[in-house]
Amino acid sequence: MIKLNYKNTDAMIIGNENGLNIAEEFSNYKDRIAEIIKNLNQRKDKPGQWLQWMNLGYNEETVWYVKEFASMVKGRFDNILVLGIGGSALGGIAVTEALLKPYWNLLTPEQRNGLPRIFFLDNIDPDSINGILEILDLKKTLVNVITKSGDTAETMSQYMIIKDILEKELGDDYRKNIVATTDKKMGILRQLADQEGYKTFVVPDDVGGRFSIFSAVGLVPFALVGLDIDQIINGVKDMDLALKNTDINQNIAAQGALIQYLMDTKLGKNLSVMMPYSSRLKYVSDWYVQLWAESLGKEVNNNGEKVNAGPTPIKALGATDQHSQIQLYNEGPNNKIITFIRVENFDTTLEIPKIFEYTGIGYLGGKTINDLINAEADSTRVALSDYSRPTMTISLEKVDEYNVAQLLYMLEVQTAIAGELYNINTFNQPGVEQAKNYTYALMGRAGFEESAQTLQSKMMAL
Ligand code: PA5
Repeated sequence: MIKLNYKNTDAMIIGNENGLNIAEEFSNYKDRIAEIIKNLNQRKDKPGQWLQWMNLGYNEETVWYVKEFASMVKGRFDNILVLGIGGSALGGIAVTEALLKPYWNLLTPEQRNGLPRIFFLDNIDPDSINGILEILDLKKTLVNVITKSGDTAETMSQYMIIKDILEKELGDDYRKNIVATTDKKMGILRQLADQEGYKTFVVPDDVGGRFSIFSAVGLVPFALVGLDIDQIINGVKDMDLALKNTDINQNIAAQGALIQYLMDTKLGKNLSVMMPYSSRLKYVSDWYVQLWAESLGKEVNNNGEKVNAGPTPIKALGATDQHSQIQLYNEGPNNKIITFIRVENFDTTLEIPKIFEYTGIGYLGGKTINDLINAEADSTRVALSDYSRPTMTISLEKVDEYNVAQLLYMLEVQTAIAGELYNINTFNQPGVEQAKNYTYALMGRAGFEESAQTLQSKMMAL
């Protein structure tokens, strides 16, 4: 199981001004945390609670259908192209970047064991869309269009462009190159997929985009590129069982949530940095940033009071950002809590040759790059604590399906517990909807005429 070390948030290590009396806080919040965990587990099956993501580790039926589909299309496509944005893309990017061989798309088909390359279009930059169209032979590409709502302008506009080209190139057969992942009944994509006869997968009810990674949203692309989705689901299930423990001393998601909540609300440390020491985990930080920001950044609390809650998440990468952000983290405002992710065993052990022994870099010879990256993680952690900066470290035995799934699921539960501590609605996103509606208005969508007028006058005034 993955581990959390929170010692460097303790006042005994970093002083009273910047640290917490962890033993005392755990004891103060023992009952509250137990109640939150019990309550989340009791509410998870109730419709409208948006907690169905807590059941995704037990969704054997979906796993079966996804594997069946992956084996049916095996060998037919050179590329997978995922269309999606936000929660419909960030988990897929994080997991494939973590688990596929590095530089996967640059490997030869033999090096990929005949498995397809994978691309994610999660933006609407015309140049990058055009760029991908120039690279891919769409006839040999399986397009997985993912949108829960089924009408997100970014995703649907990409889909329209690609469907049009596919149909021109393949005639009626183009349908075989599209698989849609969307709501089971609602939304325009569902309507079109049924009408056009695409293969579809469902984003289950009460699973929000940013909590959807272990539904078909993630599992379909993962299985298509040969990841072991049974091991992914095992990781989720085992972590879910561990996190059902209501004792804060035994529950790492509760520990992480409470420490971050108190750092923000008691000590004013409202910036939350996620810093893996692993390039393969770089995009886990992007995924975390969305999860933390959209879930906890809320104007009103559950009592309707204006609170403007929410710590600001920041992504960083070790060791790269030691040469970019660490100066600020050590000496700038003491307003952050940094979470490191440490990998105990990398797949590769890379020795540094014993050359240039007569120079100042001779000491590196005979060591490994593995020693170096973890030495840097340790030294940064210690240096930060010398400057009285709070840090936590999540340790993974290795970067594989089982451990990465545990990590992501643990961060989801941590977010849900933090949301309860902040007493906000973790699962809505009114601030995102507002901008989406303005976009519909600006682009002339029917039903948004009034918003379009308001928007035009606001734009003139600004
Ligand atoms: O987490 C969320 O709910 C959002 O980030 C959505 O995933 C994002 O807005 C895309 O929405 P949809 O999947 O409906 O296209």
